[in-house]
Amino acid sequence: FLSIADGILRVATEDIEVAGETIRADDGVVFSTSLINRDDDSFTDPDSLDWHRPTRHHLAFGYGVHQCLGQNLARAELEIALRSLFARLPGLRLAAPAEEIPFKPGDTIQGMLELPVTW
Ligand code: HEM
Repeated sequence: FLSIADGILRVATEDIEVAGETIRADDGVVFSTSLINRDDDSFTDPDSLDWHRPTRHHLAFGYGVHQCLGQNLARAELEIALRSLFARLPGLRLAAPAEEIPFKPGDTIQGMLELPVTW
């Protein structure tokens, strides 16, 4: 839903056609994982936050030989941390309207500036 590390950098090794445009060999390319992961050709209702979405083919950890080496550790850490948090604080909820949560201005590393909560 939110790609923490946005902007995968690659250099084309040969001319390729994408959607009627030619990317030339040696051109630099920036892929936005945020946009790729909201592609409704690949994901049903991509703008809805669905914790139970059975999506294993998102690109938030990149793709190909340089995809994130720490992704299995990151997945384990998040599962353990979030499960523990929700188990210990079952009443955890936002303390401000979701649309008022401030996000960092555009950057390759995305995140919230603050997340007020109560329980
Ligand atoms: C939620 C947490 C994380 C996210 C969203 C994330 C995301 C990414 C992304 C998008 C890339 C670039 C992939 C590409 O160019 O195709 C990357 C590369 C990498 N990540 Fe992560 N990462 C996370 C956690 C970690 C952790 C915990 C470690 C190490 C313990 C790690 C180590 C690396 C390394 C070494 C690379 C470079 C791989 C290469 O260039 O061959 N990451 N990560």
